[in-house]
Amino acid sequence: MLKVGLIGCGGMGTNLARHCHSLPNSKITAVHDMKTEALERAAAEFDAQAYTSFRKLIGSDLDAMIVATPNDSHAPIAIAAANAGKHVFCEKPMALRVSDCRAMIEAAEKAGVKLMVGHVLRLIPVFWNTKHIIDSGILGKPFAITVTRLGGLDTLATGWRATIKHSGGYLYEINVHELDYMRFVMGEPETVFASMGHFTASPVEFEDVAFVQIRYANGSIGTLHCGGSSSIKKYEMMIQCTEGTITNGGFAGPIRYARFGEEPTVIQASEITKEDPYREEIRCWVDAITNNASLPFDGYDGMAAVQTAAAAYRSARLNRVVRCKS
Ligand SMILES: NC(=O)c1ccc[n+]([C@@H]2O[C@H](COP(=O)([O-])OP(=O)(O)OC[C@H]3O[C@@H](n4cnc5c(N)ncnc54)[C@H](O)[C@@H]3O)[C@@H](O)[C@H]2O)c1
Repeated sequence: MLKVGLIGCGGMGTNLARHCHSLPNSKITAVHDMKTEALERAAAEFDAQAYTSFRKLIGSDLDAMIVATPNDSHAPIAIAAANAGKHVFCEKPMALRVSDCRAMIEAAEKAGVKLMVGHVLRLIPVFWNTKHIIDSGILGKPFAITVTRLGGLDTLATGWRATIKHSGGYLYEINVHELDYMRFVMGEPETVFASMGHFTASPVEFEDVAFVQIRYANGSIGTLHCGGSSSIKKYEMMIQCTEGTITNGGFAGPIRYARFGEEPTVIQASEITKEDPYREEIRCWVDAITNNASLPFDGYDGMAAVQTAAAAYRSARLNRVVRCKS
């Protein structure tokens, strides 16, 4: 039975911990949060030891830790956990600096512990099935991807999410998901050109709209249009392949795909049956620790997504094309 500690007992931490606690081979035995109310609620729910000190929790008899605190605290917590020999599941974005991501990977590798970053979008039914169809080869090779994720001005408007210090901006807090998924489909990003700005009354301290153009190492191209500044919510993805095209309408679907000259096949989101994505990512992490199974995505994937986001901010600042790996 894997003994797991939870750091950050808010919305996502509690969700992940519930899945972890319900698996046959893992349970939440210790919890920590800066806020007493959240700490006590989680301790009661999981019948776990409540630690007001993160250092004391790390020193306790634990095998692994879930890190679900605001984005700027992921790196110091994950590094301390790895140094103490604990396996780590870290929420996305892995960190707000590439150097921190690298330090997290190094700490985990030195300690010989597993490090997974929560790029759950890959496992969400519509996106999971979209990738599955592309991988089948029926549409040929992907050469262009466009992703639009707009709206939800209120989502980042309050608390830590609205601040550059804790959240980093849209590309870190929200669209690191899309940047990861685009890489998952298209391959390694090579260069980025981004434009962004803040145009509405949104109280966020950063951009409220961004265009990010990516050229991948294999020559394929992509564009992400994102931000909270649209009063009409929109989530769409289109992947053009050499023998056909596939689109999806985000989480709610549907998926539509067609080979050139053929009628589109339509798959509704409700037709896709699979394991809950959050349960799946935690189950895979637990299996990787207990059975040495391979991780579906890891620290290197987390770092690559942060690298692309960081390159986009750099590009917008300099108003020129930049290399992802600077
Ligand atoms: N993968 C996804 O789909 C997804 C969705 C939501 C959030 N997230 C990520 O999960 C993380 C947490 O988000 P959330 O929605 O649960 O936020 P939240 O505000 O609901 O919870 C964060 C909790 O962390 C606590 N906290 C803050 N700083 C801390 C510290 N240094 N040490 C210990 N506890 C601390 C807060 O008191 C709060 O209870 C973020 O990184 C976010 O980006 C991922």
